[in-house]
Amino acid sequence: QIAGPCVLVIFGVTGDLSRKKLMPAVYDLANRGMLPPGFGLVGFARRDWATQDFAQQVHDAVKENARTEFREEVWEQLLEGIRFVPGTFDDDDAFIRLRDTIQELDNARGTGGNHAFYLSIPPSSFEIVVSQLKRHGLTERTEHNWNRVVIEKPFGHDLASARDLNEVVSSLFDPHEVFRIDHYLGKETVQNMMALRFANQMFEPIWNNHYVSHVQITMAEDIGIGGRAGYYDGIGAARDVIQNHLLQLLALTAMEEPTSFEASQLRAEKKKVLAAARVPENMDLHTARGQYCAGWQGGRPVKGYLEEDGVDPASNTETYAAIRVDVENRRWAGVPFYLRAAKRMPRRVTEVALSFKRAPHLPFTATDTEDLGVNALVMRIQPDEGVTLRFGAKVPGTQMEIREVSMDFGYGGSFTESSPEAYERLILDVLLGDPPLFPLQEEVELSWKILDPVIEHWAAQTEQPQPYVAGSWGPQCGIDMLAADGFTWRRP
Ligand code: BG6
Repeated sequence: QIAGPCVLVIFGVTGDLSRKKLMPAVYDLANRGMLPPGFGLVGFARRDWATQDFAQQVHDAVKENARTEFREEVWEQLLEGIRFVPGTFDDDDAFIRLRDTIQELDNARGTGGNHAFYLSIPPSSFEIVVSQLKRHGLTERTEHNWNRVVIEKPFGHDLASARDLNEVVSSLFDPHEVFRIDHYLGKETVQNMMALRFANQMFEPIWNNHYVSHVQITMAEDIGIGGRAGYYDGIGAARDVIQNHLLQLLALTAMEEPTSFEASQLRAEKKKVLAAARVPENMDLHTARGQYCAGWQGGRPVKGYLEEDGVDPASNTETYAAIRVDVENRRWAGVPFYLRAAKRMPRRVTEVALSFKRAPHLPFTATDTEDLGVNALVMRIQPDEGVTLRFGAKVPGTQMEIREVSMDFGYGGSFTESSPEAYERLILDVLLGDPPLFPLQEEVELSWKILDPVIEHWAAQTEQPQPYVAGSWGPQCGIDMLAADGFTWRRP
């Protein structure tokens, strides 16, 4: 489906996200023929740029980060709709110029007055931008046009602040006009979780506490916090990615089949899971936090977190977070979901692994089955996208020896189609007004309700998060957390 004529206004256009993801995604969409000729792109930022300067930035970002090849004719077409408005958020004149620019584009490109405002800015600036949009009549709508706002996480830093933030946004936009980006939902492999579960008959019958012993959701990154101390320090792994990406993965894994993939149906099922999910009370036992110290990564020495530029040397921000979540409903009672997220792990990997119970009886001797692990179904979200099934098989030979083997589905080997980048899919959905992949405010709040007690518990601790060596699989307390339940973490 191709988007209709419209203007996309990006606030915070000089930021990292814009350069790495948003600009390239816009170009890729244009290149794939998903944007209409009547498309306009407006950048708004403090930088004292002319439109040509901004266009050059977009051009460079596209050359550097776009997924599809650079085609001059596509670029020329996009360029005609590019504009830049310099200004600060409290500058009325800048918003008047923005209004004029949008109007000029509306007329020149025939956008029909359809506008999407992408707030790629810190949440602390939402209020001023939203009130400026209102004051300058930038979001007036009739039955013939639409206005939408796109917001990026963090959606607050706890339940109370998430509610405050929502009040600001909902003062101007109706719920159906607000698109909250959780870029994990834009990933092909995440959407494939729904295909795997609901397009097939063979998985769903075993997708419950009769067969599954526990679930591990891992988001490991090899990178440290690099230049992001300003954002990350004081936030930490749990708020950064468990509150959003990992709890969304949990919701997709645990939810019932939606009646359809229409937004209201899908969100309703995710909401039920999040409402039933909680971290068990004994948090010393069921949560773990760590902080990386100096170590080795890819054969090179790397700094510890406390030595990173911009990090408070006494910081107790966790760079490793693991929590156990119980989903208290009939399907999942008794099946722990373990979520872990960390920086400076040995490799970058995100996966959702269902581990199955052992066969109730094995008609083999213990030596026959020495190498037999547990059956597992692993949804490999990234970077090696696909699905793995692990099970026992007879080792060829004259003995009945059983060893664990894998059956693999990989995207590269099965599809010739390339995956769009998550932001490409999500920006297109914003322009189409197609909301299923965007979490609702209720989901955001339910996720904070799950996490707030953990964060409060950690905040009350006097000791630092447990150190772990950069390039290792995390602190001892993470290992102990699973051992207490009789499990071990997978080494993806
Ligand atoms: C972001 C987090 O949401 O996701 C970052 O803020 C993290 O800390 C990033 O590095 C990872 O995204 P991806 O798509 O590379 O897994």
